[in-house]
Amino acid sequence: MSQINQSSIWQTLNQHKKDIELISLREMFNSNPNRFDQFHIQFNDLLFDYSKHRISKETINLLVRLAKEADVEGWRDRMFKGEKINSTEHRSVLHTALRNQNDTPVVSDNENVMPKVDKVLKKMRRFSEEVRSGQWKGFTGKAITNIVNIGIGGSDLGPAMVCQALKTYGSKTIRPYFVSNVDGADLSQAIEKCDPETTLFIIASKTFTTPETMTNAFAARDWFLKTAKDSQYIKKHFVALSTNQHLVSRFGIDVENMFEFWDWVGGRYSLWSAIGLPIAIYIGMDSFEELLKGGFEMDEHFKTTPIEQNIPIMMGLLGVWYINFFNYTTHAILAYDQGLSKLAPYLQQADMESNGKFINRNGERIDFHTGPIIWGEVGTNGQHAFYQLLHQGTEIVPADFIVPIKSHYSLGKEGNEHHKILLSNFIAQTQSLMMGKTYDEARTEIEKQGYEGEDIESFIPQKTFEGNRPSSSILFQKLTPKTLGQIIVMYEHKIFTQGIIWNINSFDQWGVEYGKQIAKQVLPNLSENKLTDSFDSSTNGLINYIKKN
Ligand code: F6P
Repeated sequence: MSQINQSSIWQTLNQHKKDIELISLREMFNSNPNRFDQFHIQFNDLLFDYSKHRISKETINLLVRLAKEADVEGWRDRMFKGEKINSTEHRSVLHTALRNQNDTPVVSDNENVMPKVDKVLKKMRRFSEEVRSGQWKGFTGKAITNIVNIGIGGSDLGPAMVCQALKTYGSKTIRPYFVSNVDGADLSQAIEKCDPETTLFIIASKTFTTPETMTNAFAARDWFLKTAKDSQYIKKHFVALSTNQHLVSRFGIDVENMFEFWDWVGGRYSLWSAIGLPIAIYIGMDSFEELLKGGFEMDEHFKTTPIEQNIPIMMGLLGVWYINFFNYTTHAILAYDQGLSKLAPYLQQADMESNGKFINRNGERIDFHTGPIIWGEVGTNGQHAFYQLLHQGTEIVPADFIVPIKSHYSLGKEGNEHHKILLSNFIAQTQSLMMGKTYDEARTEIEKQGYEGEDIESFIPQKTFEGNRPSSSILFQKLTPKTLGQIIVMYEHKIFTQGIIWNINSFDQWGVEYGKQIAKQVLPNLSENKLTDSFDSSTNGLINYIKKN
């Protein structure tokens, strides 16, 4: 079967790129004062402004044709219907069911999954309310004051990101910790702040076999038992979020205290499931349900809106436009909200584990770029670190600026001084990346500053900016649970759209599995007394060097 880059629409886009690259963004804005009106989409309280992209109406028409050719809408409907689109693992992809607010059944393997989703949500409500109210007691009768989530990847990044983002909604009496790294520093630094009498450990692992998580979980259990002495108390201090009841019970956790999810929930799409329990405990179940509601509303937008007005599909298409036609292969996530400081690492997993693949659904080698390198930092911190490269580097990095219009915090003059400064920086960055500064503008500026003669000539190139650097602006009222739900799902479906266009299965992760497999082979070599010669010379050299030292 021929790949998408062999299609005629791909060739047309290639040709169109050659035409459009002759026109700068500055020229596009100068010749069309309605560009903002023409290229933005509003949905609920979200504004998606994509006017600062190297596109024309024709580009959009062609990209829409590309999406149709790849049958993005058909695949989308198959996913929502529970078809097994995760073909290598023979699984449905139904994280959307976890936030479904319709009464309509969602079917996987001839079973409506909604009753079991609702049952777990009810159990999460009951439990989170007991913990928050202090009704749930530790082994000495004290209420819980610390929750320690032990998990990694999708069993960590989502809940950690959301708890950080929604701190203003968080409990004032319960502190959340997230331990993921098998580096003993991570767990040690969390538990040194905790008291075993008032700490609840949440062991979050879909498989309950992930070595990092299980090593930390056993160490946490040892730490707890050193004080509690009796293993019957484990049930008061350990709960599990998993699909693997057998291993949970073998660990010593009461299966009554296991919150279940299912194989049709991918790890990186699991924060909506029982994996969200630390979120529910920290911000309360009502707020967690608002998060789900926001996610559901974005699902509906994705499901029902024509492509041209469909935010996630348009985001996906713009990404393809840059990655495949301009060769811009990285993408920056620049949130102007301190709460979103963990959004970039969260999206790294969501995007790069999903679409970082060179084999397509048919098992063929893909000969064009696929998933982008995702990176980022909150504004304005990033401005004082890597924005220099964004403005004048030889790499061009399309970026998403994600910005609340209002802050939860009122500081400074009129209670919004900080936020106004933040907003002005966001506006200034997107504007200057797009406009740049011409040679003549640089000269005028330098002359005004009092430079003279040769100094001026040598300084002008340093102060000249090509501009023409694309960005999207994503604005919303305030970072609420519901808005955050919309933003996360917007990215999930952007990733989905790109996976479909590239004909990738975005829901497996064989590359990660390969790393795990090799680590298993290396581990025994580190404990053996003799030097190893089982691997290549570099690997042997490193293992033996560690052992000798
Ligand atoms: O890193 C690979 C991965 O399988 C992720 O997809 C997943 O989120 C993570 O490991 C954790 O897996 P588990 O929840 O089974 O411990």
